[in-house]
Amino acid sequence: MLDRMNGLKRTHYCAEVSAEDIGNTVVVCGFVQKQRDKGNLIFIDLRDRTGIVQLTFDETTDRDVFEKAKGVKSEFVLMAKGKVLRRESVNPDIPTGEVEIFVDDLRLLSRAQTPPFPVSDGVKVNEELRLKYRYLDLRRSEMQRNLRMRHKLVKLARDYYDENGFLEIETPVLIKSTPEGARDYLVPSRVHPGCFYALPQSPQLYKQLLMLSGCDRYMQVARCFRDEDLRADRQPEFTQIDLEMSFVEEDDVMEVNEGFMQYMMKKLLGKDIILPLPRLTYREAMERFGSDKPDTRFGLELQDLSGVLKGCSFKVFASAIENGGSVRAINAKGLADQLSRKEIDKLTDFVKTYRAKGLAYTRLTADAESSSYEKFLSEEEKAAIRAQMGAEPGDVIFIIADKDGIVFDALGALRCELAKRFGLIPEDTDALLWVTDFPLFEYDEDSGRYVAKHHPFTAPKDEDVDIILTDPGKARAKAYDMVMNGYEIGGGSIRISDPQLQKKMFEALGFSEDEAQKRFGFLIDAFSYGAPPHGGMAFGLDRLVMVALGIDNIKEVIAFPKVQNASELMTRCPAPVDEEQLAELSICCTVEAEETEESR
Ligand code: AMO
Ligand code: AMP
Repeated sequence: MLDRMNGLKRTHYCAEVSAEDIGNTVVVCGFVQKQRDKGNLIFIDLRDRTGIVQLTFDETTDRDVFEKAKGVKSEFVLMAKGKVLRRESVNPDIPTGEVEIFVDDLRLLSRAQTPPFPVSDGVKVNEELRLKYRYLDLRRSEMQRNLRMRHKLVKLARDYYDENGFLEIETPVLIKSTPEGARDYLVPSRVHPGCFYALPQSPQLYKQLLMLSGCDRYMQVARCFRDEDLRADRQPEFTQIDLEMSFVEEDDVMEVNEGFMQYMMKKLLGKDIILPLPRLTYREAMERFGSDKPDTRFGLELQDLSGVLKGCSFKVFASAIENGGSVRAINAKGLADQLSRKEIDKLTDFVKTYRAKGLAYTRLTADAESSSYEKFLSEEEKAAIRAQMGAEPGDVIFIIADKDGIVFDALGALRCELAKRFGLIPEDTDALLWVTDFPLFEYDEDSGRYVAKHHPFTAPKDEDVDIILTDPGKARAKAYDMVMNGYEIGGGSIRISDPQLQKKMFEALGFSEDEAQKRFGFLIDAFSYGAPPHGGMAFGLDRLVMVALGIDNIKEVIAFPKVQNASELMTRCPAPVDEEQLAELSICCTVEAEETEESR
């Protein structure tokens, strides 16, 4: 038989019971963490979202209460009333370790099956199992902390932007497709057979329209949906702290948003962020760190060896330079002892996953140099490499020759891999910075044309306006990303507010006037009725929480995340629907139900 609460009211959350309450009667509720039965003495650790408190029962306890306590198992749900006593043996590991509750009224509110894994921190449990029983996983204090921190961060964002004159305005979730670069999730319309809404990849167009509506400063905690490949820092549905401002230039947007980071890091974690944040241009970030989201907590910076190796005798190097690429290197300082041939072979395989064709190296010990290019380069050329890299005995230099894009990618990744493997990342240090001056366009090899690097409404740098049609590859954008510890935590831009320039931009992207009108006609029209200059950005909330808390898996900060294949393991979605539902939507599936089952 289960008990009822019957008017009994909670007076304290478990972890709030303290030495100050000694002698008082309290009522607590929660789940059973652990029950220890010592014959005529029973202890129950009761857990709620704040933590744990110990309930105690002995031979003086009412017999019915004692018997009930005897039958209690892990995860049973209880309510307990009793007197707070000082514990005989203090447990210094938990905040309530000085006290215990001597129970005189115990209510059994729910029984529980044995959970498929222990609900406690620090146990290694397979992620699939955790996600299948997410409600159990979320009972753990680590997960409760993550949810609490996320809540606090959102609240701080709302407070900060409110104090700075931003209005939170909701934008629709059923919209016309926005060109953010990823694939859209589509929602079929019942009323308009054959027509679809798209779920927003971001509120981009609406927030710009809010600027044209005179709202001046907008913010929103916005859900976004992108049908793209998942990674450790990416989910198909995620949340942005999204904002837009009128009458601003790049510096204005950056100033308000770095201000938020300072405010948030102080209030959430007590950490001081010094402003203004450092800024790196995109070019500089690539050349020094091989990445547009550089982790600047450690060195291992890239060096360009193309100057000293131009026309050298090693064909791999010389031809990369001749073909317009480069030869670049990093110096793994003092790591020669730890980088055996076998280790280097593993790193070679690692860089190959970034499309590098090989990884040349030289390893310097006190009295010798052994390198993969020993036979191919002259003594002078080898010396020139050592000189430029500032090489000393104990160092290993890694070199990659290829097209710039591949060299940057592969060395950028190798730099992070070495830092991770050899513990070069200082703990408790955060590196926040802006990356600016992004290219306006990106060449898409598949379609053989330029596409917008950010989105088609991003303004070019004033000095590059004239080259967007003649030399698009060189045009830079008024775009900026905020980077923290090697993650892109946010990004935005100043938008085009001049219809003529927008037209030119569409032309550069290869949209015919017709096409542009069809896709963005409403926006082009809107700009013809008076458009304040405007710009904004969006933080990835999930990523921000993850990086701020020093976690490297985005699922840990989302209550009900999706896995690699975009499904949710607890409810098993996506899932097939009834024929009638499909018929109502005028949809006919080309996949059989059994096949669908197999693919899941
Ligand atoms: P962007 O596409 O750069 O810009 O997105 C802004 C930030 O959102 C986060 N983010 C993601 N987080 C988790 N999972 C994903 N799949 C994912 N995709 C992006 C990143 C990123 O920096 N409308 C523009 C912003 C603007 O111009 O104002 C936009 O959406 O942290
Ligand atoms: P090979 O002549 O192909 O055996 O290459 C000799 C050395 O150069 C090996 O250590 C290769 O890993 C390395 N190597 C090959 N291609 C490249 C490249 N594109 N960049 C850097 N090193 C390379």
